[in-house]
Amino acid sequence: MSSVDLSTTLGNAWFPAPIFTASGCASSGRELSQFFELHSIGGVVTKSVMSKARHGRPTPRMAETPSGMLNSIGLQGPGIDAFLEKDIPFLLEKKARIIVSIAGETVEEYSTLARKLRGVSGISAIEVNISCPNVENRGLVFACDPEASRRVIDGVRRTIGGELPIIAKLSPDVTDLVHIAKGVVEAGADALALINTVLGMVINVETMRPQLANKTGGLSGPAIRPIAVRAIYQVHAALPKVPILGMGGVASGRDAFEMIIAGASGVSVGTASFGNPNAIPVIQNELRDLLAAKGFSSLREAIGYAHRIEVSDGE
Ligand code: FUM
Repeated sequence: MSSVDLSTTLGNAWFPAPIFTASGCASSGRELSQFFELHSIGGVVTKSVMSKARHGRPTPRMAETPSGMLNSIGLQGPGIDAFLEKDIPFLLEKKARIIVSIAGETVEEYSTLARKLRGVSGISAIEVNISCPNVENRGLVFACDPEASRRVIDGVRRTIGGELPIIAKLSPDVTDLVHIAKGVVEAGADALALINTVLGMVINVETMRPQLANKTGGLSGPAIRPIAVRAIYQVHAALPKVPILGMGGVASGRDAFEMIIAGASGVSVGTASFGNPNAIPVIQNELRDLLAAKGFSSLREAIGYAHRIEVSDGE
């Protein structure tokens, strides 16, 4: 095994390894823990949890697409109290590093969730998911509105104080992502999660009806990777000091490396784990080998490397 320092930071949270689960694709990691040690990866980003338990959207709520997957789960989950009672102890027992993802329908709900997390030991950071595409009212995709995004992050920051780093999860479905990113950083986000799924739709040509009960859903998987790489590159160019947790269609160490050199400090893997539950450790090992092969002795040296290469005209 090559000796590359894979450690990384997101805000003031330190992680020994850079590959994480993606929120929503592994719940709190119970199923994946049958396949690998949760403490061997960067950390588990839990499914976005809300104040109350939710059944989510009616079925069908998943559809395959070429190079991707469309979902409209609708933030199914146990609610914050049951989550704190059952999932956090499980993750602590597994010695996993934990990033808790929260989602709300109002600015106040996000603050309430943050209040519940205050003083809970063993949490490394909070991911504030303001970009779920499957909410009932599209007006509640806070991340599509610069002012609403700021208000949510400001509320969470005031509630949590300096206790935990805040990672704001943004949507690629906006015209000016850098503008939204700057706003949430000014409001108190320490890091950014880029990107959530891309709003999409599949129509079944046999039934001639939308495939998902909710009609639209969030597209993930390799189809969206170039969108994610573009988003990471643009935001890192504008905010080089703000750490980015990159995600969107990563299926190999090479894909993770592409996000790192675009500017990501860590990478989450989601859809790939459905096809191969060992995808995360495999990707982490492939990334380590690729970093070594490229002559990097640490992950940190590679972050944003693509920005440092001058390409002259005519080449
Ligand atoms: O529908 C869902 O639960 C998806 C959430 C998300 O993409 O943030």
